[in-house]
Amino acid sequence: MLDRKRQEQLKINSTFVVPQKKEDHSYVLLDKRFLHLGDNINFNLYFKNRPTQMTLFLQSDTVVDMQQQQRLQEVEQVFVSSTEYHQYEIFVEEHLQKLIQDTSLTLDEKTDIIYTSSTELTHSLYDNPEALENVQRSENIVMPILQSILYNDDTIASYMKIIEHDYYTHTHSLNVSVYALCLGAALGLKEEKLILLGRAALLHDLGKSKISYEVINKNGVLTQEEFDEMKNHPSLGYEIAVKIGINDKNILDGIRHHHEKLDGKGYPDNLKEHEIKLFPRIIGICDVFDALTTRRSYKKAMHSFNALQIMKLEMNAHLDMKILNVFIKMLHK
Ligand SMILES: [Fe+2]
Ligand SMILES: [Fe+2]
Repeated sequence: MLDRKRQEQLKINSTFVVPQKKEDHSYVLLDKRFLHLGDNINFNLYFKNRPTQMTLFLQSDTVVDMQQQQRLQEVEQVFVSSTEYHQYEIFVEEHLQKLIQDTSLTLDEKTDIIYTSSTELTHSLYDNPEALENVQRSENIVMPILQSILYNDDTIASYMKIIEHDYYTHTHSLNVSVYALCLGAALGLKEEKLILLGRAALLHDLGKSKISYEVINKNGVLTQEEFDEMKNHPSLGYEIAVKIGINDKNILDGIRHHHEKLDGKGYPDNLKEHEIKLFPRIIGICDVFDALTTRRSYKKAMHSFNALQIMKLEMNAHLDMKILNVFIKMLHK
């Protein structure tokens, strides 16, 4: 769990508040670390000039110049209207990678930024009626575990490699770990095991940091050569994990074997049936579900009902049907 010292530190460091429910005219505190010289801000910024009054600070569609940067340093907090929150989310998405590569920030500052923006992303997964509508209760179990995982120095260092490389893999990894933690809890795993499962799920695609960006983000079907390159990511991820000192067998299994199939037609080791352990079975199901239900630039998001139907009818030789049934029950109670 997140230790108390870290929790206190987070409260002090973080200038970001996770919005609970966004009412029509509420304002959300904005993380100033995302705003830099030269950035084009496409939403209005506000500051509090009296305890209850918000005043326009920066008009939408303004490029931050030296003068504005100076003004930003002088105000303690800036806010964005909840009606323009979506624009801010897109802005954060575009700037997160830049921040991770920014050499003027310390590891602690970067950890804090990842932690806060990831918490926000995970909350929005719970808000999405297509995703976890019926699993709201698990939020109390899953969120603290995921937050403690994200605030663990070893995990965050390897997770940064994922964000640096590709934003989609970052959000996908977060989604897969939320699903895996919910499913793990539904399967009766104890907290200690859940923490390991959450780490494995968060890092399952770590090896994609070694695959070219063009292949990962290709709009459309991969050529045979590109697919062969892509297929290396589970073993590459395993190698990176071993190199950085991850030695838990469950986590390593989850990373290396999440694309194995029960009929032996998966990769990289063509494992069969009982050779595939529990973690890769759980992660494999959550991975396919997220890939099918997420919107990408080249494909629409599939409704969760249709995704589960495909998984049940067309992937029964690949996925563990007993675990899939628990997953289906969990999502459609
Ligand atoms: Fe993968
Ligand atoms: Fe994946």
